[in-house]
Amino acid sequence: MADIFKQLTGDFFKKKAESVIGVDIGSAFIKVVQLKKKNGKAILETYGELALGPYGGVAVGQATQLPPEKIAEALADVIREANITTKNAGLSLPLQSSLLSFMKMPPLDDKKLAEMIPIEARKYIPVPVSEVSLDWWILPKREEDVMLGGVPSMPGAIKGVSPKEDKQLIDVLVVAILNETIHDFRDVVARAAFENAFFELEVFSTARSTFGASASPVMVIDMGARTTKISILEYGIIRAQHIVNRGSQNITVAIADSVGVPVERAEQLKREFGLLGTGKEGHITETAQLVVDHVLNEAEAVLLNYERTHNRMIKHIVLTGGGVLLKGLYEAADKAFETEVTYADPFKKTEAPAFLKPVLSDAGPEFAVAVGLALRKLEEQE
Ligand SMILES: Nc1ncnc2c1ncn2[C@@H]1O[C@H](COP(=O)(O)OP(=O)(O)OP(=O)(O)O)[C@@H](O)[C@H]1O
Ligand SMILES: [Mg+2]
Repeated sequence: MADIFKQLTGDFFKKKAESVIGVDIGSAFIKVVQLKKKNGKAILETYGELALGPYGGVAVGQATQLPPEKIAEALADVIREANITTKNAGLSLPLQSSLLSFMKMPPLDDKKLAEMIPIEARKYIPVPVSEVSLDWWILPKREEDVMLGGVPSMPGAIKGVSPKEDKQLIDVLVVAILNETIHDFRDVVARAAFENAFFELEVFSTARSTFGASASPVMVIDMGARTTKISILEYGIIRAQHIVNRGSQNITVAIADSVGVPVERAEQLKREFGLLGTGKEGHITETAQLVVDHVLNEAEAVLLNYERTHNRMIKHIVLTGGGVLLKGLYEAADKAFETEVTYADPFKKTEAPAFLKPVLSDAGPEFAVAVGLALRKLEEQE
């Protein structure tokens, strides 16, 4: 793996064991998690969340686009409120700021690939290569690519997947991030006085904290405020991605319109009744259901398309992001898919006081990214 982002941030040296912080800057909330390693275990020291809406003049729960100085201000506030004591940080990059391309390359060594990939990437990336930073991963060969006919229940599987001429080529995932985005993140890092900071695409952090490097395909549905990000991963590496232009704030706004209440009140009604409102509250649920159905329909289309084109069954669906906490959403998703559906439970990978356990499992979907970032930082200390 050519870890360009890591090199850019100068994280060359192993650090002695100390506390680490994962920082997830979303469109509506900023989340922080502080971990420490003790006897080989990740100990949860503290965590916190802060709504960004008010920093951009909109309501709590609404998405906003903030300049680095405002983000740094909010970050300083959440760090203070959560009693964060470390500067040793990992930050997530939003999926929307990235361009993913899948390329076939000759089986060259890492050095040669690092030379070839930027040249090849020109064909895939709609902006000049000089305006982006590239990172890349070689996709592991699947068992059934080698042993033909791996998924017997899928039509066509017996014929095998890779055409003969492809046999010698390797599949490479190339992630391009706009330099402008990296520049803004560096600005936040500098203002926060973070040390040895690394950046990572948010879905990789979620994968680390929730299901690891599962060989069978996993679909992640991350319902945030502005959008819902659908990703399919194998071996912890992203294989497909789709962004649905609807998020949980669409439910809030629709409730505000249909009930005729301010957005702040609609946010409360959304959280109180979700998809379970009846009688007088029935229309709140009907309004929310429209958005949820749209998101689930798109997710189903992504799933079916993936299964068809890759000849592989998706074995597990993980629900994450604050939006999936909507009452009744888990049941709706469970009904919509034949595949096993679970909530992200990232705190399961950490040790925490017993009295916190119920709170933590409820908050899991909101903190999957921040926990995943902190876990990577801990791994880097080893
Ligand atoms: N208990 C809940 N019930 C319903 N909705 C909720 C609940 N908790 C949070 N949300 C909604 O989830 C959304 C925020 O989710 P999340 O924290 O994942 O967003 P984000 O990471 O800031 O956004 P994005 O990933 O799109 O940048 C908000 O719109 C909020 O109203
Ligand atoms: Mg998010």
